[in-house]
Amino acid sequence: ADAGAAVLDLTGRHVVVSAGGTREYLDPVRFLGNRSSGRQGYALARTAAARGAEVTLVAANVTLPDPAGVKVVRVETTEQMQAEVMAACQSADAVVMAAAPADFRPTSFADTKIKKTDDGSAPAIELEQTPDILAGLARDRPHPGLVVVGFAAETGDDSGTVMDHARAKLARKGCDLLVVNDVSGGQVFGADDNEAVVLGADGSTTHVARGSKGALAHVIWDRVTPLLPER
Ligand code: CTP
Ligand code: CA
Repeated sequence: ADAGAAVLDLTGRHVVVSAGGTREYLDPVRFLGNRSSGRQGYALARTAAARGAEVTLVAANVTLPDPAGVKVVRVETTEQMQAEVMAACQSADAVVMAAAPADFRPTSFADTKIKKTDDGSAPAIELEQTPDILAGLARDRPHPGLVVVGFAAETGDDSGTVMDHARAKLARKGCDLLVVNDVSGGQVFGADDNEAVVLGADGSTTHVARGSKGALAHVIWDRVTPLLPER
């Protein structure tokens, strides 16, 4: 399925990939979450392993089977994902944040299920921001050689084009590469294929035509390998 996977150019490298969507609990049964399927992250993990890498896949609420030869660490919340990604990155050469971490979480957690009342009212839920894993990693790199890659789904609007927003996000996050999906026309969640632009911190762009998530994953590793420190 993955043409070109015969190249073992990630042999001896350790890469970390995050996948899926985190959940932030209000009470033992309810959460704020999102619709990320985890498929792009799983494709990145599978293709890196096929190219010879040691792979740690930090997966949040994904129902896909574990890719062969990949260490899968399961998490639920953004804070748990941050802890596992940071721990794995201490010994990693590259990290790709393909996950969709929840941006907000309830400021408090109810230990017991929140019950309905008879007056028809509903509780107000106060939210706070979760930690930004990617920005934190790029800012406080566990070691200077770590290559840091983010994802962004953007729409063009009155304040700028998709690429305007992407360049601003790359600069804000401080990452080395940003994989940009234009979602103006519809949705990528759960889609079989993906069209993207890989944007470099130096302004370089690689356009990736609509194709499988495995094909996009290979292009991403092709952009990562020249940034890895020499051995
Ligand atoms: N990301 C992260 N931690 C968060 C939120 C996002 O590491 N708490 C990562 C995502 O995994 C992705 C990148 O940041 O690689 C961009 O995510 P995105 O949702 O596009 O950016 P945000 O900064 O959350 O901005 P917004 O959702 O407002 O566009
Ligand atoms: Ca977000």
